Amino acid sequence: MLSYRHAFHAGNFADVLKHMVLVTLIQSLRRKETPFFYLDTHAGIGSYDLQAAMARKTAEWQAGIGVIWQAGDAPPVVADYLAQVRAFNGEGELRRYPGSPLLVRPLLRDKDRMRLCELHPRDIEQLQQVFQGERRAQLAREDGFAALKSALPPPQRRGLVLIDPPYEVKTDYQTVADALQQGLKRFATGMYAVWYPVVDRAQIERMLRRIRDVAADGGAKSVLVVEQCLRPDEQMGMSGSGMVVINPPWQFDEQMRAALDWLLPRLSEDGQGVNRLQWLMAEAAG
Ligand SMILES: C[S@@+](CC[C@H](N)C(=O)[O-])C[C@H]1O[C@@H](n2cnc3c(N)ncnc32)[C@H](O)[C@@H]1O
Repeated sequence: MLSYRHAFHAGNFADVLKHMVLVTLIQSLRRKETPFFYLDTHAGIGSYDLQAAMARKTAEWQAGIGVIWQAGDAPPVVADYLAQVRAFNGEGELRRYPGSPLLVRPLLRDKDRMRLCELHPRDIEQLQQVFQGERRAQLAREDGFAALKSALPPPQRRGLVLIDPPYEVKTDYQTVADALQQGLKRFATGMYAVWYPVVDRAQIERMLRRIRDVAADGGAKSVLVVEQCLRPDEQMGMSGSGMVVINPPWQFDEQMRAALDWLLPRLSEDGQGVNRLQWLMAEAAG
């Protein structure tokens, strides 16, 4: 089943959280001279036209990136992400939104590499056009979950895996943990960031417990949940979204606290939102 179209949702509040985390993690990898590897298991099409029919139909971006893109008072990690979005628009009006592959691309150095997986035949074609001639990127029409086996460990021995499935099928919640288990077996020191929607709270808590267990068994050092809900869970639909980050960099939790605190009053209309920053597994002291 490949009916999910990210073009309906590009730039919404969930993308804001996901992409702010993504840019922050990539920036942390750039702090060291040694090359890194980026694996995007569910890459999408890379560039989203905010004036196209799909984006106009839901207008989700207007309540997400549309609210904050011009802000001048954002904390550093949000400002950094916003700068990427503005640069993608040539510093002009907000007309296009960069998906994960195109947020990372400008941050790659000559020595860094990325692998982008996308299963939808039309989406991978679009992505291939966007990345034509880009020698640092390897694109594949393959199951992104399987790439945690086939593409890891990377020769660089440092890097980030973004896992951003559509959760169209309920088994995705279990498959994420299974795939992480495979990834950690091969690359326990890597950073992993898993996006999830908060639609069914019980299901999310089950997934988070599984991820914590898999991370602990797989030799990961730490696991942090970064979540923002804009409405109470009891309401219909997606009340919020989160990112589970395995092996986050130093001080990432503090950066995320400042970011979430700044974003919440701007993205949640009626003050009913709530942030969650929780270590599922903390690094042992010493
Ligand atoms: C949420 S979107 C990705 C958005 C993208 N990561 C971003 O942040 O811009 C999920 C994408 O995964 C693709 N997809 C669905 N199942 C997949 C699978 N098993 N492996 C790879 N891609 C898949 C869908 O076609 C869709 O484009």
